[in-house]
Amino acid sequence: MTVYLDHAATTPMHPRAVAAMVEQLARTGNPSSLHGAGRTARRVVEESRESLGAALGARPSEVVLTAGGTEADNLAIKGLAWARRARDPRRRRVLVSAVEHHAVLDPAVWLAEHEGFEVVLLPVDRDGRLEVDALAEELAAHGGQAALISVMWANNEIGTVQPLDEVVSLAGRHGVPVHADAVQAVGQLEVDFTASGLDAMTVSGHKVGGPVGVGALVARRGLDLTPVLHGGGQERAVRSGTVDVASARAIAVAVEDAVTHRATHAERLAGLRDALVAGVRDGVPEAVL
Ligand SMILES: Cc1ncc(COP(=O)(O)O)c(C=O)c1O
Repeated sequence: MTVYLDHAATTPMHPRAVAAMVEQLARTGNPSSLHGAGRTARRVVEESRESLGAALGARPSEVVLTAGGTEADNLAIKGLAWARRARDPRRRRVLVSAVEHHAVLDPAVWLAEHEGFEVVLLPVDRDGRLEVDALAEELAAHGGQAALISVMWANNEIGTVQPLDEVVSLAGRHGVPVHADAVQAVGQLEVDFTASGLDAMTVSGHKVGGPVGVGALVARRGLDLTPVLHGGGQERAVRSGTVDVASARAIAVAVEDAVTHRATHAERLAGLRDALVAGVRDGVPEAVL
């Protein structure tokens, strides 16, 4: 029997998300069309957006649907950096923690290599936790040059939860927008966008029982974001492209389910983890946790 354990890489789809997606795939309609089929599709997208907003503590209008976490991270890093510098040319420093996923690190490095920005890698301790003092020192010295800060909510490899409250509070004193990649936090921790004080937050469908290839950037109302994809002006004109109705519906079902059952899921997982650790320790006494 194969036991699949790598839910940090991708999760099995939730049967309700599969059912919603399959049902929607059999329907036709571009949510941007003005005729009946389009309006019906638009309603499904807007209901999905409402449900995502409710599950994530955000207003529906703050949910920008994307084709996955990587795209949402790119939109956050490039979109915030460009928009911030356009307003104030001194703001060229892009601050990211040293343990970000490549979907954050690589766009930051790309901005430095191609767009005249500077990347500042914020150090972490031996548990992968952000050194908040180092961020405070960076902001004290160069706060007026910071374009954005991106620190992930929870780490995809070792699970470290970052001190976002402290990051948000420090950033606020220097007028710097904060983005968090919450791809690994949703369904594991309480994620409330409004309460977090974040300006932008990334989520992804396939880490919570939804499909691969759909995600969202939750972006505070009024946040200046320069689009990465140009075209038909969908999604508040920051993410052009026909909205994938079936995926929107499926991610909404999956996120709602993951958030609703988070506590029982966590309890079950903790039990499984403890049993696994105990089993390994019994069989391999020299194993290091
Ligand atoms: C923390 C984190 N951010 C971003 C991503 C990328 O998300 P997606 O696979 O939806 O592009 C992942 C997936 O591996 C992740 O773990």
